[in-house]
Order: sequence, then C-alpha cells, then structure tokens
Amino acid sequence: MKYFIVTFGCAANQADSERAAAYYQARGDTKAKSVEDADVVIVNTCMIRESAAHRVYGLIHNLKNKKIVVTGCMVGMAVREKSGNMLRELRKKLPTVSEFLPIAEVGFDYEPIRSDKKHAFVPITNGCNNFCTYCVVPFTRGRETSRPFEDILRECKGYARVTLIGQNVNSYGSDLKNPPAGEAGNTIKPTYVKHLGRLRIPTLFPALLEKVGEIKGLRSVDFISSNPWDFSDDLIRVIAGNKKISRHIHLPVQSGDNTVLKRMNRWYTREEYIALVGKLRKEIPGVTISTDIIVGFCGETKKQFENTVRLAKEVGFTKAYISIYSDRPMTAAHKVYKDSVPHAEKKRRWNILEVLINKTNLQNGTYE
Ligand code: SAH
Ligand code: SF4
Ligand code: F3S
Repeated sequence: MKYFIVTFGCAANQADSERAAAYYQARGDTKAKSVEDADVVIVNTCMIRESAAHRVYGLIHNLKNKKIVVTGCMVGMAVREKSGNMLRELRKKLPTVSEFLPIAEVGFDYEPIRSDKKHAFVPITNGCNNFCTYCVVPFTRGRETSRPFEDILRECKGYARVTLIGQNVNSYGSDLKNPPAGEAGNTIKPTYVKHLGRLRIPTLFPALLEKVGEIKGLRSVDFISSNPWDFSDDLIRVIAGNKKISRHIHLPVQSGDNTVLKRMNRWYTREEYIALVGKLRKEIPGVTISTDIIVGFCGETKKQFENTVRLAKEVGFTKAYISIYSDRPMTAAHKVYKDSVPHAEKKRRWNILEVLINKTNLQNGTYE
C-alpha cells in the first residue's frame, strides 16, 4: 500500500507525523508522492481552535475513494474522554474514516523519517500539565511526560540544526523520578527553585540544552515553546554561554492584563513578564523575542485589551502569533466562563495587534 500523511497543527504534530511514517514503513507500506497517488491517507489532526477543526473536516469530506486513517489531537481527545461519547460523535461526523489511530500507539520508539536532513524537530516532552483555561492540549495529549535524556541526545546527533519541542520545554524533566543530575555529565544539579512567586519542581531543561549545545557538528539549536514560568536563571546562563543556542526566544505571553492572565490560569503577571524580558535582554545581548497572544478571551474588556497593546509596545516583539479566542470543549473556560466578546470586536482587536506587531498591511486583504 502507498500511504500519504497530511499534517495539521503545530511542531509536535509535524514530529509525530515523522514517526507515523516510520510506523507505516515498518509495516511494508511505501510513501506516495501525493494524496492522489495514495491508497491510504493518514490525517494528523489539530483542534486548537474551531477553525483548525473545520479545516480537518473539510479535507476529510473531500477525500474520495481512499482508505482514511485519522490520528492526532482529535483522536487523542476522543479516546481520553471517559464516557466514549466524543469518539462516537467523531465516528458519526466522519463516516468515511476507516480507522482512528491514537498517536500514542505509534509512540516514541520508531526512528523518525525526516524530510529535512539538516534540521531536526526533536520532541523532549509530550502533553501538558498547565491547564491554561482556554486550551485543549492537556486533553488532547494528556499529562506531560519527559523523554529520557539520552534518547533525546542520541536523536539530536547528525544534524546541523535542532529544534527542541514541547508544550512547555522548560519544565522538561520535572516528572522524571531521580533525575540524572550529574550522571549525564551535566553541570546543573536540579533543585527546587522559587520562580515567579511559586516553588517550582526541579527541571532538567538547562542541563539538556547545555548537552545538546555541545554536540559536535551541530551549528544551532532553538526550542519551542517556553513558558514565562520555569524560565530559570540557570537556563538564561546556559543560553548566554553558548552562541550555538539561538538568540531568538519564543515566549508566549497570551495577554498583558493581570486579571485576564489570572482567568487564563497563566502563572505570571505582566510585571513579571516584562522583568523576565529585561533580564533576557541584559544577560543575552542581541536577543529577540516573539510571542503568542489571544484576543477576545472570555470577559476581556477594552481596557484589558489595551493593557496587551501597551505591553506589546513596551516589549517590542519581532513577531506575534495572534489568535482570536475560540471556545473549546472540555476546557475550564468552556465550563466556567462565557465567550462574551462579539466576533467583530475580537476581529478589531486582532487587527490592531497584527498591524502593530507584525506590520501587516490590512489594505491588501483580510487576515485571520
Ligand atoms: N504550549 C504553548 C502553546 C500551544 S497552543 C504555550 O503555552 O505557549 C499555541 C497557541 O494557540 C497558544 O499559545 C495560544 O495563543 C493559542 N490558543 C490555544 N488555545 C486557544 C483557543 N482556545 N483560542 C484561541 N487561541 C488559542
Ligand atoms: Fe499547556 Fe497552556 Fe500551552 Fe495549552 S497554552 S499547551 S495548557 S501551557
Ligand atoms: Fe498542536 Fe493542535 Fe494538538 S496546536 S498540540 S496539534 S491541538
């Protein structure tokens, strides 16, 4: 059989698709050149916003005379939901699909088949424990698990460029019992640290990044995404000390208003975020910062939105992925808050930030 994988969503899905390819090849299937050329089409799904889910449904409805396998976050969410209603609904919605494959069945044991031989996206954690109130990821991917230190190092070897990926890379290792401090040759002993007002569990990310940065032949390493919490002084020191580590940091802020941040269950204030940016600028000369922002979150007032605008002006992001808030199933926001900001107003706020940060010329058409 000839297979073709269509991937929606983030870098984690891209990486999952590379292992899914290995999973199919291990069964003797070969890669098709295109969807048209394939016997079986594997759709790796995303549902971070409703619009993402619609794109997935649209593609599947247009696939005719193919065996269709669906994997990724939609399936992850459906199989984790205990009553089974969600999986039944998904089957009903997608009657042409012959198999729903939880990506966990592919796992991490397959050697990924990468199309890019120079730049590898290497997952270091899977899942998320943060439960930001708007976000489905803790439900689609489950709790955060860290991959073994040595597996990651092995996978990074042989590439000129590596991007370490996880929903919150700087909490890497906090779930590993008896973290191998010193054992892997790292110089950092994880200790409980007080950071952004909270006592944080030990994290091995600085040690991991330090080791990856030492790999022979590797020219550059970066990582996505970093949450503002857990961004420890150790981590800043490691970045500052090795020029191979990218001077560009993606640091999602989501909102510049403290009330909104609290309602989002983001564990920092705008002041703490700005202070962290200041520290990065001081310790890592030439650092640039990009971000993610959500506009129109439940109950966000114009004043609260203006605080995000002010923060964006103060920080000077080089780029921002700006999203219009979308109500998602299972999330705390869906259960507790009301999606109260009208779509036109969300759009207005989106436009303001898009022009301010990304310098988009909205005269040239509509964007979302
Ligand atoms: N783990 C990453 C984010 C992963 S999701 C982090 O915490 O930074 C990628 C982005 O999608 C988020 O940063 C957020 O800006 C956006 N997003 C997530 N859920 C959303 C929702 N319900 N509506 C709109 N945007 C959302
Ligand atoms: Fe996890 Fe929050 Fe990122 Fe969603 S937005 S993946 S809950 S840290
Ligand atoms: Fe990524 Fe979308 Fe899943 S953003 S984690 S593929 S819901």
